Amino acid sequence: MILPIIAYGDSILRNVSKEIDRMFPNLDEFIANMYETMYATNGVGIAAPQLGIPARLFVIDSREMYNKDGIEGQGLKQIFINPEIINETGQNWEYEEGCLSIPGIRENVRRRPTIKVRFTNENWEDQTTEFDGYTARVIQHENDHLDGVLFIDKISPLKKQLIRGKLMEIQRGWVKVDYRMRFAR
Ligand code: CO
Repeated sequence: MILPIIAYGDSILRNVSKEIDRMFPNLDEFIANMYETMYATNGVGIAAPQLGIPARLFVIDSREMYNKDGIEGQGLKQIFINPEIINETGQNWEYEEGCLSIPGIRENVRRRPTIKVRFTNENWEDQTTEFDGYTARVIQHENDHLDGVLFIDKISPLKKQLIRGKLMEIQRGWVKVDYRMRFAR
C-alpha cells in the first residue's frame, strides 16, 4: 500500500524516533509499504517518521543513482532497523539533496563520504558494514530523519533564508506534487 508522505511542518519530522523490537506490529507489512511508497514517489530512501511512524527504521535503494550517473559502484537496496552511524570519515563532499517531505527544494549538502553503520537487517541479524559514495549519503540523509534532522538544517543561513517562503508554502499545503502528502493542517 502506498502511504502518504508527511510534509515539512509536521512536528513528527522533528521528533527523535524510538528503537523498535520484534514486537513492532505488522513489521513485514510496514516494510513492504515503505518500499512500495518509496518506488511510487521515485525516492531513493524513506524513513518511518516520513510515513507518520516515529520508529528507527528506513529503507534505501541507491542502485538507480549509480546507473543514472554512470558512476562506479552498484548501489544497494536495504532496510536498516535501529541503525547507528558509528563513524564518518573522509573529506566532506557536496551533493544536491532533496527530500520527499520537502518537495521542490534541492540544495547542496556537505557530508563525509565513508561511514560505518551498525544496524539490524530484515532477518533481525546485527550487522556492521562500511558504505561510501551515494549509498552512504542516502543512509546519512535517512538516518538524520530518525533524529528529527532535515537536510535543510545543513545548508547556510543565507540559503535557508532564500527558501523560507517555499518552506512556508509546503507547510501550508500550497505545493504541487504528484504523490499523496499529509500536511500539518
Ligand atoms: Co528526506
